[in-house]
Formats: sequence, structure tokens, C-alpha cells
Amino acid sequence: MPTLNWLTRKEDIKASGQVPYRILETAGKGVYGDLNNSNLLIQGDNLAALKALIPFYAGKVKCVFIDPPYNTQSAFTHYDDNLEHSQWLSLLYPRLELLRELLSEDGSIWITLNDNEVHYLKVVMDEIFGRKNMITNVIWHSTKSVTSTAIISAAHTNILLYFKKREYWVHNRTEFRLPESGEGFSNPDNDPRGPWKADPFQVGGWRPNQQYEITNPKTRKVYRPNHGSSWKNDYKKFEILMQDGRIIFGATGDAGPQRKRFLSDAKKRGRVATTLWNDVDTTTNGTQHSKQLFGNDNAFTNPKPEKLLQRIMQLATNDNDLVLDSFLGSGTTAAVAHKMNRRWIGIEIGEHAQTHCIPRLEKVIAGEQGGISKVVTWQGGGGFRFLRLGKEIFMPDGSINPQITFAVLAAHLWFAETHTPYNGKGKSPFLGIHDGIGYALLYNGILQDKKTNGGNILTATTLAKIRKDAPAGFAGKVMVYANGCRFGKARMQTENLECKQLPYDCKKC
Ligand SMILES: C[S@@+](CC[C@H](N)C(=O)[O-])C[C@H]1O[C@@H](n2cnc3c(N)ncnc32)[C@H](O)[C@@H]1O
Repeated sequence: MPTLNWLTRKEDIKASGQVPYRILETAGKGVYGDLNNSNLLIQGDNLAALKALIPFYAGKVKCVFIDPPYNTQSAFTHYDDNLEHSQWLSLLYPRLELLRELLSEDGSIWITLNDNEVHYLKVVMDEIFGRKNMITNVIWHSTKSVTSTAIISAAHTNILLYFKKREYWVHNRTEFRLPESGEGFSNPDNDPRGPWKADPFQVGGWRPNQQYEITNPKTRKVYRPNHGSSWKNDYKKFEILMQDGRIIFGATGDAGPQRKRFLSDAKKRGRVATTLWNDVDTTTNGTQHSKQLFGNDNAFTNPKPEKLLQRIMQLATNDNDLVLDSFLGSGTTAAVAHKMNRRWIGIEIGEHAQTHCIPRLEKVIAGEQGGISKVVTWQGGGGFRFLRLGKEIFMPDGSINPQITFAVLAAHLWFAETHTPYNGKGKSPFLGIHDGIGYALLYNGILQDKKTNGGNILTATTLAKIRKDAPAGFAGKVMVYANGCRFGKARMQTENLECKQLPYDCKKC
């Protein structure tokens, strides 16, 4: 497959693997709003932050939206958009790899870009996500103003859409459909089935079993599909539709066949979106909303309008799904996800994580009524946690950072071994079973033994505690991470154990 080359490509394609895992530490007030929430606002470089999320969220994010700097060669008030072309690609490449790892198998990623970089990014996305997983490039009518000095004034923004795995998309599921508004439906013949719309019964493309004659019962005129077209259904289905009063011949009965589509059915199925979006507000609306939120002098530069994010979330997510934005800006994605009852994670490197995102999200919790609030009847509620990047998991001498809690190390070891996120609570030395192997960790006094190394060495006593927490009847191999092991080879074999020594055997975790 053709790939894109740039100055630092060799280093950039290795970068995501080389970023060290770091802890995420509570910052600011810690929790804002309701204590029982799983939403996260993280301030820091998204490369390190995404890596820190991997052991906990790999494969769990349903929708990623990013609005990275467009490389427009201009310095905005709140962030620098003046990266050299290669630098821009090296910013994006490793982050896209991590974002792919975080996406669920049925997840999607949406990236807004103008024409500066979109074609380069398409090639990079094809490499990372696979060419077959590109769904489309949505054209968003993002500005109505015309630049009189331009050769051709840009009126649109590109939104690249990729699936993690196209094959997971099933035509009939509720995602990737918009709510049917009912526009254009009426009931001129008082059909007891309610309002309907007449769709053409002729469709493009020649299909042999959809070629037949239809006679208009009033005029006796005979209709056949035009050259290169077909009727929408085969003859058997056509007869059923005729009997059911779903085929009509124009408003007065004098025309060719049409098929009635009832609003009740359309509402169940939802509406297919097109690639042209001119009904989701413009950047001007985003700016106006930002002025309402932060005042004229503090408004964010070019925030996305909430309606745009609402459209994306309507298509790509359901209630309670997890949405991630790693270039959060003024917090639009988080605010919309919150108002739409989705869970969210937002990452922002700039100080505006504190000056814009926190106040905006606090307002949302308090019931802020701008943006999409009225449409979704937002009443307020919920909460989020504010985090910053903490120390690396491993110290420069290779030892484990003593600040690392059992739960954090457990998540890292579990992920390194299984490549799935750790779902445990970090309360038991037995972490779980994956592919028939049990995993256990003795660390940090999990067994309440305060002696130096107490409880962190594999002995008959600690093994008994591990076995006590394993599911009854589990007879598979148990891999134990510990500071040491007191058993000889023979005992290890009869007990079906493997011991990995901390920290040496988990350096690459
Ligand atoms: C175009 S803005 C996003 C605007 C956002 N969609 C909104 O509606 O407010 C891009 C954001 O990405 C942030 N950013 C750039 N590089 C980053 C990095 N390495 N880690 C985290 N955030 C980054 C910038 O600070 C900026 O706020």
C-alpha cells in the first residue's frame, strides 16, 4: 500500500510504543458535581494522556472526535497553529495509533480539518485504520462569510470518518441514523396508518428480477423501469404492497407507481445522513456561544458549534456510550456528550483546560441553556473528575514508582499480558482469568502484611490467598507477579504456576 513519507516518519511510527506509562493524578477540586460519575477532564499532552488511559480504556471508546490544530500557519490566542508540515504529521501519527487502540470494535473516529492537511491525513489514516475502514469525508458548511481576497473562498470544513472495523457495522442498528423529523409527511387520503410520503418506485441500477410491467389501474397505461433502472422490489413483493395499499399512482392516480412510506416506520428506522451538512450551525454560532459562556474578551477562537457534535453523537453513539476528544479546546465535545447522556473523556494541553473547560462544564452541570440545551431539554446534573499527568510508572533506575497503587500496577500488568482493559477494583491479588490463564499480583501490601516484602513474595501463605480469590474449580495456570518466589521448580510445576519478578519482568508494561 502506498504510504506517506516525511522527515521524522521513522521515529514517529515508533513513538506511541515508546511513550512511558504515567499515572493520572487528581488535580484542582478533584471531583466537580456529582461524585458518582466516570467523566474525565485531563490536562496534559495527549500523547502521554492517551497512553495512560490505555490499560483502563483500550477497546472501550465508542466515538472519538478530534479537532486538531489545522496547521493554518497562524498563531491563535489560546494555542499555536503554526506547526511545520512534518511536525504536524508527527503530532498526529502516534496519537492516532493510540486512539485506534482505545476505540471499541464497533467504534468510529471523526476528524475535522480544512484543506491544508486533510489529504495528507487521509493517507496516514488509511495506513493506521485501513483503507477499507474509511467511510466518508463529510463536507460541513462551516462558514457563510465570503473572503473577497480569496481565489475561491472556503465555505466548508472536512470531517474524515473512519470505523475501527467496517465489518462491525450492521445496517439495521440504530446508530448511524438520524431521528426522523416528520418533515414532508402528510395524510391527504386519511390513511388510518397515519402520515406518509410518496417515494419513487423506480431505483437506479439494473436488476433482472425487478423488471416487469405495472399497469396503472385508472389509466391502464403500462409502465416499465427506464433503461438502466429497476423497480424497487421484485414482483412478489410488489403484489403484497399493492394489496396493502402501499403503491399509489401520483396524487390523482394518473401517474407512474410510487411507494408510500409511513412516518411511523420512518421513525423506527431513522433517517440516513448524507455527506453534506449545512444544517448544523457554523463556526460563527460556535463563537457566539463561546461569547455567551466566557464574555467577548475571553471567547475561545473557532470553537465548534454544539449542533455539529450533536449530529456526530446522534449518528455514532447511544446513551451512556463513551466519547473521547483528545484536542478538547474549550470543551465542546465534553459539554455535548454530557447534555446527551454520553460518558466522556476530554484531554487538553493548554491552560484553557482550567480557564475554559472547567467553568464551561460546571455551567453545564448547573443547567446551562446555550447550544443544544433546549433541543435536548437539558436540565443539568452529573459531574466529572479533573486529572493531570503524574509520574512515570517506572523510575529511571527501573524500580516501580512507590506512588503507584496496587490498582494502577494491576491494570498495567493485566493490559500488558492480555491486551484488554482491567475491570477489577484492585482489591484482590487474583486479577482475573484470560484465555485460560489466571493472573495474580503481590504488591504494595495488598495482603495487609506490613513487613518489608511481606505479602509481596510468593509463598505457601500468599499462594493460598491467591487461590482463595480465584473462581472455585479454576485449575488453569496462574501467572504471579511478585518481588520473589520461595518455591522450587518441582513445586511450581505441580502447582501449575509461573512467577514473574517485579520490577524486572514488567519493564515493558
Ligand atoms: C482547534 S482546537 C479545538 C477546539 C474545540 N473543538 C472546541 O470546540 O473548542 C485544538 C486544541 O487542541 C489542543 N492541543 C494541541 N496540541 C495538543 C496536545 N499535544 N495535547 C492536548 N491538546 C492539544 C490545543 O491547545 C487546542 O485547544
